[in-house]
Amino acid sequence: MAAHRTATHNVGAVHGHDPVTASPLMTLTYRSRATAPLSESQLGELQHRAAARNRAEGVTGMMVYNDDRFFQWLEGPPASIARIWSSISRDPRHVDIEAISVHTAPSRLFANWSLKLTTGHGDPWLDEISAARVSSTNVAAEQLAALVIATEPNEARRLLNAAYAEFRSISAVIELLIEPTARRLGDLWADDDCGEYEVTLGLCRLQTFLREIASDGVQQHTEHPLVVLVAPLPGEIHMLGATLDAESLWLAGHDTRVRFPSTEQALQQIVATNWFDAIDLSLSPAFLREHRITRMSQIVDTVRRASKNPALVIVAGGRAFYDRTASSADVHSDGSSTSAAHLSDDIARARSEHH
Ligand SMILES: Cc1cc2nc3c(=O)[nH]c(=O)nc-3n(C[C@H](O)[C@H](O)[C@H](O)COP(=O)(O)O)c2cc1C
Repeated sequence: MAAHRTATHNVGAVHGHDPVTASPLMTLTYRSRATAPLSESQLGELQHRAAARNRAEGVTGMMVYNDDRFFQWLEGPPASIARIWSSISRDPRHVDIEAISVHTAPSRLFANWSLKLTTGHGDPWLDEISAARVSSTNVAAEQLAALVIATEPNEARRLLNAAYAEFRSISAVIELLIEPTARRLGDLWADDDCGEYEVTLGLCRLQTFLREIASDGVQQHTEHPLVVLVAPLPGEIHMLGATLDAESLWLAGHDTRVRFPSTEQALQQIVATNWFDAIDLSLSPAFLREHRITRMSQIVDTVRRASKNPALVIVAGGRAFYDRTASSADVHSDGSSTSAAHLSDDIARARSEHH
């Protein structure tokens, strides 16, 4: 398959089997450029015929057509994918066809769509993000997780920008997409569907894309801004949680300071020499970090003792608190937060209980 032109990731052993066909499941993504802009009816015709053939082949997927560019995700039995890919790569309606990734997958993301079409106008992808508000399965986050670790992550960037254009709220993008995508990356790792390097890469990219979106955020006015230190727990290499927390606290109007102390001593030094009303200490947004919980409780204790402000309020964040495998009692903090989107409220609650 010409798809191997571009580096793929995590191909490894074939471990994904489609429950419908009982054969291994292959996913292929590529992008291309329309030779000439397609009218709505030409696009409809293309989709209609492609969906019929996909159905016959047991293939499902989605296609994005936006700004004369195609992005397509196909999943199905390897032989079917190879046949369809061979037709697609010979199709004169597009050029600059570039495979992004080819790999086996544990399950289908688009089981219900022979070929879902998304154009960015009245985007069905956005309907899915909205559906994620009320449902526990977040298909949009599953897609984003796959896209953000692809060789070429621009489609992930585009989808995040589309979500922001729709919601006009950085908090909504964080809570509905970025945090669920981080957890999804952690799940892919836990199921052996990607490596730790890819999780870290994916989290870094999410951080980069968020910063692009957040650059036009406007800080709210608040009557009583707090001086808050935001820091990953020393030893935690995933910085995305701290970035999301800092972004969201800043938007809520707080005087937010972000530090990345590499040791417990460095953190003590920061709180001993600066006055903070509250500290937000975070663990990975992707992994549960079970082995760090006891360590976190020790660090919380020493930070409290070292603090210049004797009434310092400490709030803990990270996937462990979202999944409730750890609580504030476990880490000796005054509160915990399940999402950066309501961290400001979580700190306010912890302060009122503390005083
Ligand atoms: C951007 C793009 C995406 C396409 N996606 C599919 C697809 O998912 N499935 C499919 O059967 N054909 C798809 N086609 C159409 C095929 O290229 C081809 O026209 C069709 O499968 C008929 O195949 P044949 O010409 O080999 O008979 C796509 C074409 C383009 C330009």
